[in-house]
Amino acid sequence: MAILGEHKGAVEHPRRVAVIGAGYVGIPTALLLSHFGHQVVLAERDDYRRSTMQDGRSPIIEEDLEELLRSVLETQRLRIIGDAAEAVVDAEFVFLCVNTPMGIDGHADLSFIDGACEQIKDHLMPGAVVINKSTVPVGTTIRVAAALGRSDVAVVSNPEFLREGTAVRDSFGPDRTVVGGDDLEVAATVGGLFALTGAPLVVTDAATAELIKYAANTFLTTKLSFINAMSQLCDALGANAVDLVRGIGHDPRIGFSFLNPGPGWGGPCLPKDSHALVAIAESVGEQIPLISAAIETNSRQQRHIVQRVQELAGGSLAGARIAVLGLTFKANTGDRRDSPALVITKLLRDAGAEITAYDPTVPVDASDDDVKGLTLCASVLEAARDARVLLILTEWNEFRELDFDALGGVMAQRAVFDGRNILDLDTARSAHFVAWGIGRS
Ligand code: UGA
Repeated sequence: MAILGEHKGAVEHPRRVAVIGAGYVGIPTALLLSHFGHQVVLAERDDYRRSTMQDGRSPIIEEDLEELLRSVLETQRLRIIGDAAEAVVDAEFVFLCVNTPMGIDGHADLSFIDGACEQIKDHLMPGAVVINKSTVPVGTTIRVAAALGRSDVAVVSNPEFLREGTAVRDSFGPDRTVVGGDDLEVAATVGGLFALTGAPLVVTDAATAELIKYAANTFLTTKLSFINAMSQLCDALGANAVDLVRGIGHDPRIGFSFLNPGPGWGGPCLPKDSHALVAIAESVGEQIPLISAAIETNSRQQRHIVQRVQELAGGSLAGARIAVLGLTFKANTGDRRDSPALVITKLLRDAGAEITAYDPTVPVDASDDDVKGLTLCASVLEAARDARVLLILTEWNEFRELDFDALGGVMAQRAVFDGRNILDLDTARSAHFVAWGIGRS
């Protein structure tokens, strides 16, 4: 990994940092800061996560993470412990990187933030800075300050913009660092911890920093829902969504990134954050119909795909075996939270289909609730046996080059629906498959 060669132990003034929570945000943050030369204590109460990391193994599937972890452990600048209170005693900077799941009413559930504050409040050093990196509603910086009840401790917001699957790359090369707080000098000091990334620093007040996170994620959802809606229109008009993307993406005001139509946006962040922003707006008497429409368009896209698969299956899904390739919410992660693939498999099953599924990260004996009712398979070919339609829902590289002759030999009918537009449909057609994609048939 090229990153490891750069900036090693490069900071002039190493700081003492605590990171609370070893998840998708906490782990890269702790590794990045210790790689840059800071002394970091990472607190994680889950025994499995902690011991896995102490052994130099990553508890999450994430490119480059294990190599970085091992290199950082060698430097002795990272300590991984269980107790958040112990982690903060000497820390000048304390990053809160705990989970903020979606609550029942669409608002973010802040119980883990509240719990962390309770644990650390009596152990923080005078002059320490507590930094909210978890995605939290506007006003949480004030709430954290109140929960800590420490006038000698500053609280700032520092939203994270990394993506799963490229978390290490994104942390070392972010587009920007955003820090918000009452004391702009403190905010700038926190920004300084990330100076070696070379990213532009945006210093602002806490409420704006908190809103920036939601604005960024919901902007992305509206962009995706727009292109997904266009792909539905392509189906209705016999147009081609791949060419449409090429035709608009060259305009730099539009751009190609985040413009691939697919099975709808999912994962632990975009759905949660878009619902939360709707709830935040409502809580102050505002409405943002654009975001509600993006959410509705997302569900519509999933129903549309089910409709298309039903057509491919011969008009009815009752008793039809559908082979699903990919269950994670996107490739290069083991995360299935709010995965569009699971929404679609549920809709297919509700319509009477039987699902065989293969995903490189899901073992055949997985018994988690979200995969109950699916027949999990160990390979593409095994999943395809006797299936009427082969349906790609996650863009894993191994699905890009399928052996259609072999698949045709085991399937009940030669039909493929490419829900990620990763296939050359002509290759499938030359093996006598009926082949459709998102916005192309
Ligand atoms: C997202 C944001 O991209 C990050 O900037 C943010 O930090 C993160 O949420 C967060 O809040 O923690 P992530 O959830 O890892 O990152 O996933 P994305 O790469 O954004 O993908 C989200 C969904 O959009 C996936 O279901 C993906 O398959 C879909 N997608 C993405 C498309 O369908 N088409 C695209 O062109 C891009």
